[in-house]
Amino acid sequence: MDAGEFVPDGADLATLRRAAAGCHGCDLYRHAQQTVFGEGPDDARVVLIGEQPGDREDVAGHPFVGPAGRLLDRALDEAGIDRAATYLTNAVKHFKFVERGKRRIHQQPGRGEITACAPWLTAELATIRPELVVCLGAVAARAVVSPSFRVSRQRGEVIEMPDYRTVATVHPSAVLRAPDRDAAYREFLADLRVVRTAMG
Ligand code: URA
Repeated sequence: MDAGEFVPDGADLATLRRAAAGCHGCDLYRHAQQTVFGEGPDDARVVLIGEQPGDREDVAGHPFVGPAGRLLDRALDEAGIDRAATYLTNAVKHFKFVERGKRRIHQQPGRGEITACAPWLTAELATIRPELVVCLGAVAARAVVSPSFRVSRQRGEVIEMPDYRTVATVHPSAVLRAPDRDAAYREFLADLRVVRTAMG
């Protein structure tokens, strides 16, 4: 079971987004409120890929609108990258969580869910044809570059792929959780500056 049968061939982003709203390619749709599809211009030069929507994104229906998104906004701005000109999406389009009382606690998507959702990411990239893809965290980097990708070793490097170049960094949530948040933020910003330089 995967998303493949739900993805219309050769569709534009608006059509893909409508189709993704009804995706049952894995079981995550059963508990999440909605599909959170990517957003941004269809001719964006840069695509940023996160892991999956969080609690706030699931409610709002938009990617990166919660605390991790605010940190990402600040870092993009400081790196000189215009968020509005980028396309932001996630490797997995539904929120995966466990309920603890009234709280919904994020759970990392499994290999099966990441693989099941991959046809959406492939279709987004095929439509946008970006020059640069930024992987925010290991889930995105493993989905895009290789399953054995190690962010700690290869972050901030420009990697040549057949159709675009890619740079991986940590997920903004990892910066928020880091024991030394300032140092983690500086390293995250340094990686985004690599992206800015690679954009030319
Ligand atoms: N974390 C992600 O990876 N994506 C979002 O959209 C929000 C938080």
